[in-house]
Amino acid sequence: MKVLAFFAFAAFCLCLGSAGLIPKHASCNLDWYVEPDCAEAGQRIVLQIKKWNNTACGTGEKCRYALTSFDGKTLKGKHTTPVKHYVDDISMMFKPSGTGCAIHGFSSSETWYAFLDQSTNYCNLHNLVSGSNLDKTPKFKETTSDAICTQYSSADCEKY
Ligand SMILES: *[C@@H]1O[C@H](CO)[C@@H](O)[C@H](O)[C@H]1NC(C)=O
Repeated sequence: MKVLAFFAFAAFCLCLGSAGLIPKHASCNLDWYVEPDCAEAGQRIVLQIKKWNNTACGTGEKCRYALTSFDGKTLKGKHTTPVKHYVDDISMMFKPSGTGCAIHGFSSSETWYAFLDQSTNYCNLHNLVSGSNLDKTPKFKETTSDAICTQYSSADCEKY
């Protein structure tokens, strides 16, 4: 019964995915524009990941981040969910734009059967800009949608 329910759910999600309503796999693509330059923005995000490289999760997910690499242009890291220990891969690309920096962020669940993620992939990314206060800098802009970022519009990043 459980197996049947799983396949019905998977089929439903694949159908939503094919219709372009949700990504085909739990993931999030987003773009940020920030006014600090890429050097500062990158440094702030790296520091935030290092600060949250611990298991002190409290009631949220602001913990269990790991930095894999950062060369000034591309950042790679991982985030593990506190309860079920699912691993999500995070990457960010930093590109100078105008007087600031354009950042493309991508987060994707390593678990192949993940379709809906309670917006964890969005929060993996968003918590890093809010934690480092980049989202409070003048001209901060975040661009994404439910079609490219799983459950973006119902996100509760204090919880997930
Ligand atoms: C901290 O970072 C290291 C290396 O990047 C990683 O192996 C480790 O799992 C991280 N710790 C936590 C609690 O996420």
